[in-house]
Amino acid sequence: MKSKVLIVDDEPTAMSTLEAILAGDGYQLDYAESGSIALGKAEQLQPDLILLDVMMPGMNGFEVCRRLRATPKLAEVPIIILTALDDRSSRLQGIEAGADDFLIKPVDRQELRLRVRTILRLDRYRTLSIQRENLRKMAEHVVNAQEQERKRLSRELHDDLGQALIAHMLRLQNLRAEIPAASENIIKELESLIADTSQTINKMRLLAQDMRPTMLDTLGLKTTLQDHCREYSIRTGLPVTLEIDEKLPELPDIYSITLYRFLQETLTNVLKHSKAKHVWVELTLDELEIAMTVQDNGKGFMMDEKTTSKGIGLTGLRERLLLVGGKLIVTTAPGKGTIISARLPNEMLPKEQL
Ligand SMILES: Nc1ncnc2c1ncn2[C@@H]1O[C@H](COP(=O)(O)OP(=O)(O)OP(=O)(O)O)[C@@H](O)[C@H]1O
Ligand SMILES: [Mg+2]
Repeated sequence: MKSKVLIVDDEPTAMSTLEAILAGDGYQLDYAESGSIALGKAEQLQPDLILLDVMMPGMNGFEVCRRLRATPKLAEVPIIILTALDDRSSRLQGIEAGADDFLIKPVDRQELRLRVRTILRLDRYRTLSIQRENLRKMAEHVVNAQEQERKRLSRELHDDLGQALIAHMLRLQNLRAEIPAASENIIKELESLIADTSQTINKMRLLAQDMRPTMLDTLGLKTTLQDHCREYSIRTGLPVTLEIDEKLPELPDIYSITLYRFLQETLTNVLKHSKAKHVWVELTLDELEIAMTVQDNGKGFMMDEKTTSKGIGLTGLRERLLLVGGKLIVTTAPGKGTIISARLPNEMLPKEQL
């Protein structure tokens, strides 16, 4: 495949000079005669290299460079800035804007051809983006596979094992009813077996629920979150105040499960680490984001490498959120409680729902 080079220059003569220099080297050359056209073309073409003039009316080269760097898909594309300004300050400005290399105009034929060839041969940018995309796909695959497996196990626990245990208990109860009153020891033993079985059924229900709340599929996210907070409060004795934005629309499955896993992990962390007296959970929505925030008034922590590497909970959440284009924000300090927030872009939602 031919390497794509996007040449950005407002002067037709400069543009044709560059074209003439590079024409014989087997690249696919594309052109943009202004900064704004360059941004559009870069997005559409995904070039392997951009040659960018600085002095252009409207948006100058530095600004184009900054904007390219701020566009995730183009943040790593190599950029060579072409400038007539052989001064230090414009070089610094170029570096600040994110340029990889500079060439002084009028360009030296040989130098331009060599620099372009070297950058394209290294092709670090494309290798990096391919690797990153592969990693992203793999992580997505792992998360999906894990959810599918949990769904299957949860169903199996509930449907097969659960039903079997219930049948087992009924048989024990029947047996108990049929034993003559004299066999006191046997009755005691049976009663204890019945109580144990009943406890096992309850534990298994909780486990199945935890793995994949069937409620998420049947009653939706709001009810599942309410139920999870209520059950957590009862189990732990820790009060949870939950507020959900009235306008919250039905969310895609991947969002619902991400938010549910976020709540599960952060509430578990509050219990394990914080010694908090109260937890507040909020699910809000604006034009840009859906945000779930879990705040506790516990002991807080230092958000550094040492702490976060103690477990995989927060790291896993960060990865999950990245996969759906979101992010994790942690605000905490020792003695100051903890606020953890999951932000999801709401561009996936149909606009009329907002
Ligand atoms: N709400 C909180 N209050 C105080 N400390 C917290 C809180 N949440 C997390 N931490 C700190 O951050 C660390 C990392 O949390 P993380 O969830 O990644 O790991 P973990 O809970 O220790 O283990 P895992 O989640 O893998 O079972 C915790 O060990 C704890 O020190
Ligand atoms: Mg944890």
